[in-house]
Amino acid sequence: GADDKKPVSRLGFSAIAATVADSITVPAGYTTQALLPWGTPLMDGAVPFRTDASNSAAEQARQMGSHHDGMHFFPIDLKSGGSSSTEGLLVMNHEYCDPDLLHTNGPSPLPRPLAEVEKELAAHGNSIAHIRLNSAGEWQLVEGSRYNRRITGATHMEIDGPLRAHAAMKTLYSPQGIATRGTLNNCSNGVTPWGTYLTCEENWAGVFINSGVQPREQSRYGVPDNEDDNYYHWHTAAPVSDLAARFNAAPQADSAEQDYRNEPNTYGWIVEIDPFAPDSTPVKHTALGRFAHEGIIFHPPVEGQPLVAYSGDDSRFEYIYKYVSRDAYQQASAGSHLLQNGTLYVAVFHDSGRGEWRALDINDAAFKQRAGEAGIHFDSQADVLLNTRLAADVVGATKMDRPEWGAVNPMNGDVYFTLTNNSKRKQDQVNAANPRAKNIYGHIIRWAENERPQATAFHWDVFWFGGEAGTNQPAYGKSSDAASEIACPDGLRFDNDGLLWIETDISNSSPLLGSERFGNNGMYCADPVTGDFRRFLSGPMGCELTGIAITPDQSTLFVNIQHPGEGSTPDNFTSHWPDGGNSRPRSATVAIRRQDGGKVGT
Ligand code: FEO
Ligand code: CA
Ligand code: CA
Ligand code: CA
Repeated sequence: GADDKKPVSRLGFSAIAATVADSITVPAGYTTQALLPWGTPLMDGAVPFRTDASNSAAEQARQMGSHHDGMHFFPIDLKSGGSSSTEGLLVMNHEYCDPDLLHTNGPSPLPRPLAEVEKELAAHGNSIAHIRLNSAGEWQLVEGSRYNRRITGATHMEIDGPLRAHAAMKTLYSPQGIATRGTLNNCSNGVTPWGTYLTCEENWAGVFINSGVQPREQSRYGVPDNEDDNYYHWHTAAPVSDLAARFNAAPQADSAEQDYRNEPNTYGWIVEIDPFAPDSTPVKHTALGRFAHEGIIFHPPVEGQPLVAYSGDDSRFEYIYKYVSRDAYQQASAGSHLLQNGTLYVAVFHDSGRGEWRALDINDAAFKQRAGEAGIHFDSQADVLLNTRLAADVVGATKMDRPEWGAVNPMNGDVYFTLTNNSKRKQDQVNAANPRAKNIYGHIIRWAENERPQATAFHWDVFWFGGEAGTNQPAYGKSSDAASEIACPDGLRFDNDGLLWIETDISNSSPLLGSERFGNNGMYCADPVTGDFRRFLSGPMGCELTGIAITPDQSTLFVNIQHPGEGSTPDNFTSHWPDGGNSRPRSATVAIRRQDGGKVGT
């Protein structure tokens, strides 16, 4: 087949060496520019970032949020059919915050001051930044643009799909169960065929607490039952504010309409944002299922066929899902309705290399039978979706090594997913799709759907194993050399030419990070046709690489540097990127361009 030929390499750069430099390293011939760091004034009336982190909550709410993650570049002329590569809306997630860096002296002890809690909520969410390339080849924020916008952990949002107005969504904030406040822990993202942005709620469970008896829609997702496991202790805020108190999910009143016992049910979804409509209300799409959504990736739509998308649940031993819309995609009428009604499937990877998608559908005969055999009762499709993980357990889905990003190869429709690592897998838990016990290096799996994207059968193989030479887990894939050694793949995206960009997230708690072999986290470029696999970029100390956005002409590739200097304390910064000197480290975007203006990577 085509994969066996060895054409001339399409990668036009030399691999860089692993490094622990506290800076961005790229191949010769490339330039990099850090832009839009945490705290950058974004909206009208925003004040400058104060280097001692003393900006207030209200100020933070008009500045760039913290911990940049998934991201997309929308050409400014997209709605009129254009494809500008010099002006657009850069939309991104702000996954979380680090209170040691967000406040001048770090977080105050419990109970948390409300002003700190409000600032932390304001640092989460999303930014929409209108940017333009100037004649010097630098990207700049278009100040005063009506598109510049922040969405935070307090922004009003609508709930749609099968859970809209369901009893499980009723809260004091929305007694009808049709709205909630904020989106949190937004990791990767997606972009719809109709030009909107999808932001995905991943590790939301940890912001809640319920020390009482938890219903399954909390316990199966790991809502903490004690203060030690809770991330920020927002529920302790003093003075009491229901913006903060809502994170305690223990019943406080007589009914769900009078307290926040259902607040966690309004999280764990994929949220749609229209960046071109600054006054639009974000919408949580419950038909796409509820879990620790890493991201969502669409198959290129086919006129008259259902729309197909994939989403991974990034937690150890969790699953990969596929959504197939009920209605056919028609370009002329495509929109949110395609995300409101559909069937959610979960993947079973058989050891033979075949795979199947099993429906999580209360009207599906096989699902009903398996639920009955397991003694698990769902009273409606809304109940199935609210408890997506449990429904996937029931049908015997394959437990994966932390599914992170997905990407679809534009050349042949193959779907690739990163499985970042799983140190907890034991030898008696391995399967062909997750074949390594104590998988500290991760791997990349791929599959091809049988005939059409909406098929319920597929065939799969492993594209690449992370690892290192000289160990019992060597790196291997289509070729292998020192530059091809990779650990903990996370961010993933194909460019229009079918080159695969892979970002790494080796944890600061892993001895692999900062090692001679791997250096700091970075980005690699792989060519599935030739087997080329090269390190392209190394990030500053303590960061992970995440977020990949590419202009239509591929002359600028944007990445996000998340948590540089992770582990810093208010009096000891372990990175000073991007500002240098003795500065406080800040997450930021990096624009990468070739000095000759050509396509990045080639
Ligand atoms: Fe937020 Fe799975 O990375
Ligand atoms: Ca990730
Ligand atoms: Ca990760
Ligand atoms: Ca992260």
